[in-house]
Amino acid sequence: MCGIIGYAGTRNAVPVITEGLKKLEYRGYDSAGIAVFGENGFEVVKQKGRLSALEERLKGNAISGNVGIGHTRWATHGEPSDVNSHPHVGSQSKIAVVHNGTIENYRRLKERLEQKGVRFASQTDSEVIAQLAEYYYDGNLMDTVVKVSGALEGSYALGIMCLDEPDSLVAVKKDNSLIVGVSEHGNFIASDVPAVLKHTNKVCYLNDKEIAVLTKDGVSFFNFDKEPLPKEIETVSWSFDSAEKGGYPHFMLKEIMEQPRVLKDTVRSVLSGGGNKSVIDNLDISGFDKIVITACGSAYNAGVVARYVFERLCRMSVEVELASEFRYKDAIIGDKTLVVLVSQSGETADTIAAMREAKSKGAATLSIINVVGSTISKEADYCLFTAAGPEIAVATTKAFSAQLVLLYALAVRFAVKLGKLPPEKEIALMAELETLPEKAKIILGHTDFIQKYASECVVYKSIFFIGRNIDYAIALEGSLKLKEISYIHSEAYAGGELKHGTISLIEEDTLVVAISNCGRLFGKIMSNAEQVMSRGAKVLLIGCCPEADSASYGGKLSYIGLPEISELFSPSLSVVVLQLFSYYVAANKGLDIDKPRNLAKSVTVE
Ligand code: M6R
Repeated sequence: MCGIIGYAGTRNAVPVITEGLKKLEYRGYDSAGIAVFGENGFEVVKQKGRLSALEERLKGNAISGNVGIGHTRWATHGEPSDVNSHPHVGSQSKIAVVHNGTIENYRRLKERLEQKGVRFASQTDSEVIAQLAEYYYDGNLMDTVVKVSGALEGSYALGIMCLDEPDSLVAVKKDNSLIVGVSEHGNFIASDVPAVLKHTNKVCYLNDKEIAVLTKDGVSFFNFDKEPLPKEIETVSWSFDSAEKGGYPHFMLKEIMEQPRVLKDTVRSVLSGGGNKSVIDNLDISGFDKIVITACGSAYNAGVVARYVFERLCRMSVEVELASEFRYKDAIIGDKTLVVLVSQSGETADTIAAMREAKSKGAATLSIINVVGSTISKEADYCLFTAAGPEIAVATTKAFSAQLVLLYALAVRFAVKLGKLPPEKEIALMAELETLPEKAKIILGHTDFIQKYASECVVYKSIFFIGRNIDYAIALEGSLKLKEISYIHSEAYAGGELKHGTISLIEEDTLVVAISNCGRLFGKIMSNAEQVMSRGAKVLLIGCCPEADSASYGGKLSYIGLPEISELFSPSLSVVVLQLFSYYVAANKGLDIDKPRNLAKSVTVE
């Protein structure tokens, strides 16, 4: 978690860095800080709280300099406080560091340095990097960075400045993302591309154990033997506008509204020539006897949906595992297993570990990723990219939708290759996928009822989501979305499970959201709905249910109809309503929707 940025150029680094930090705040927002080389050495301003609090401090503290580093924090070691904020400066005031990651052996290193008389100011693991760098520094910052990296255990992306080398900035990484951006007025390091998009779309992705040395005139890359590395500067397709709110009150709403475009681009990436199509065409599924999908959070929920689609179309058994569990379970996999990793960021620590575990057991790995250049996209054997563009809101919406359609398309193509789906059925299913953007647009064009209904739901203490089969899978996502941004307790259940325990929680004025797109199971989910209504609950029915008769339940049942779509692809429409519902509940509660408490978008720690 945490976001770091650095700049060496001709402009004042302070506004450049604070603007960049705004684009990284989704990675953590417990505190923020900045350090520049000023006339009298390091000038450091750091502040507990949101970036806006740092900006307030900076108004009364006119620091400036052409080289600087900045940080936005998601606390791991040490509470959110001014002193625990980054940048950390060594006790000789010679080295300043921003760090994203976790230093696992920091206690041992700290004790050793303390025995040598070094005095620590904070409770963080990160301060040990600045102190150790000062301890090792002998006139060459790059040498020092190599020595420090050799002593650190854990993960890190670092931006480091040294008082004796005021024109440059050094960066290094291991197991956490770091990009380098080059522009006409200066050069950047950042945790993620959106932080530099205002200035450049020319970037380079740093690999583990690579060092970048930045000055205003250029960037040089080295390995740990200090040999120069040729690195390619790429042009990214993301635009600056795509990482702006564009008039919407929140990124989440903007990203929900972008879904028709995202669905269209992602479906097209599979149908017309290009990276995704050729990866899928070249993957020989007949060599595998098992598919395991592993991921975290919403990406895991996309996997649960996909299991129904793969099993139905490919008639092949599919397992879905939380990456945090998969990595430690000694999974029964081997060279006949295809492990599918789903991740928006491509940097989720547990998903990275799951991928490495799968590879170490000889399994083939296929990733579905949004962020180009991310760790998983580079390390997996095959990678499909979702065409969602930058997703800034912590709660994922458009990236989730893009994951779903790529998984559907994969299932369809695998089914054909396995001889389980005749070509004419493939054409029909792919044509149906192409209708999703228009159908999503219809839902997004009629949000009045959802808004009004959601405004009345702020009073609920608990909201349950139920569904059967694939509707249950998408109920999991509806529930996660609601709880993460509205702080209302919520759980998702397979409708048939209610009577095995959960129904005891149903009382007057509990809300149950029932999803029904499986026509053959409509009667079943309605009988679950009746069971909870007869115990006092209200029910919101979402789906394509021509037989729904909300009028006959005395105001207890409300209904949101969806455009007609085949059962297997229906989660893509249900989820749009579920996202809007969660968004409007949270908006009516006046919450900080894009940055829910305690969360960060990219979970790069265990
Ligand atoms: O970047 P990833 O897709 O790997 O992230 C996985 C989860 O952390 C993520 O989906 C999380 O659950 C979201 N906040 C849900 O909206």
